[in-house]
Amino acid sequence: MSKFIAKPAHLLLGNIKVPGDKSISHRSIMLGSLATGITKVTGFLEGEDALSTLKAFQDMGVKIERKGDKVTIYGVGINGLRKPEKPLDLGNSGTSIRLMSGILAAQNFDCKMVGDESLSKRPMGRVINPLTEMGAVIESNNGKPPLKITGGQQLKGIHYDLPVASAQVKSCVLLAGLYAQGDTCVTEPAPTRDHTERMLKGLGYKVNVNNNQMCLTGGGDLTATEIQVPSDISSSAFFMVAAAIAPKADITLMGVNVNPTRTGVIDILKLMGANLTLSNEREIGGELLADIRIQSSELKGIHIPEALVPLAIDEFPAVFIAASCAKGETVLTGAKELRVKESDRIQVMADGLSVLGIENEVLEDGIKIQGGTFQKPTQVIESHHDHRISMSFAVASLRCDYPVEINGVDNVMTSFPNFVELANTAGMNIQEV
Ligand code: S3P
Repeated sequence: MSKFIAKPAHLLLGNIKVPGDKSISHRSIMLGSLATGITKVTGFLEGEDALSTLKAFQDMGVKIERKGDKVTIYGVGINGLRKPEKPLDLGNSGTSIRLMSGILAAQNFDCKMVGDESLSKRPMGRVINPLTEMGAVIESNNGKPPLKITGGQQLKGIHYDLPVASAQVKSCVLLAGLYAQGDTCVTEPAPTRDHTERMLKGLGYKVNVNNNQMCLTGGGDLTATEIQVPSDISSSAFFMVAAAIAPKADITLMGVNVNPTRTGVIDILKLMGANLTLSNEREIGGELLADIRIQSSELKGIHIPEALVPLAIDEFPAVFIAASCAKGETVLTGAKELRVKESDRIQVMADGLSVLGIENEVLEDGIKIQGGTFQKPTQVIESHHDHRISMSFAVASLRCDYPVEINGVDNVMTSFPNFVELANTAGMNIQEV
């Protein structure tokens, strides 16, 4: 089991280019594989999660070549996937298993999807239920992976009201809808990331978006295109918080995806008083990009507006570190979903913050954090193999006068393989042992 030793550092400087967006990377493989023609992807995230999706589609007969962050997908067409010889192993990746369930439920072959210990504990009823309503046949381990899908079912379109604001469930149902008879519509209770809708349109598929409802009609085709994956705002968030809390910092994050369904973290940090500005805003391939400059900031505690929760859902571990360094109390509510991420991110962060002497109160759907000063830890912080927990506590070292040790950091590879290298180049002092 690998560990970070994050030693004190106080200065953070430079222009930083974080790797490609994880959500868009997954979707580029899935939709590129189902398209007719050759899809060329640049800026692909070379993280284990996106690579699990890539490998799974190779296992289903799609020729995919990769040189670093450049990927060429020889699309097999919407009905061209082949039965994999063995179960598809999706590792730690919730996005892979949930989105692929929608695609695989509609194939004419049986298959099984498995995952690691963390993924095997995550709820899949949220995709099994709507897919079953569409006519899919899926067996699970009490609503958790492995998932066994029986192929050869003709799916029918449904109108589905999402019970939770989840882009994974929305995407799963829309992807199944590509194969369903008639119209498939999804209504979401709050806006969630819309990369699936954007990329479907980019590959020539008609998606009607009306306020909080997305509809498509089954039976169409996807046409290959070029996809440029922008930098991941979720990975950028660690550097936004790092610069905001560092005693001396001035960094610019280059070419970050600022799709409005992802920018909750920017809004939250600004509400907390962060010195953060966007420049050079542009649109590439249907996605918005900007350069983001962040300088040292005097942060204040806030009550995080619940409307921002789905728009910042992956960034809360980093936001909790910002809250720990802010003046006053930060309160998060309406964020129960954090309990079913790669770890229970409310409890695991609360435990780590307590190790660092930060007063906090765990709520059923959130947390209260009293800003303060990190104290010398008397024990190692446990990340529970959650990549975002590991990176968040590494960032805390910018406000510590002693090393912070974090256990179980192996899964940083799932989303941000060069995190340590980039962090150290910018001025942090993280050792992986
Ligand atoms: C994702 C959606 C979110 C997010 C996950 C990636 C996606 O999950 O937490 O990291 O790519 O669609 P939920 O849909 O479960 O909120």
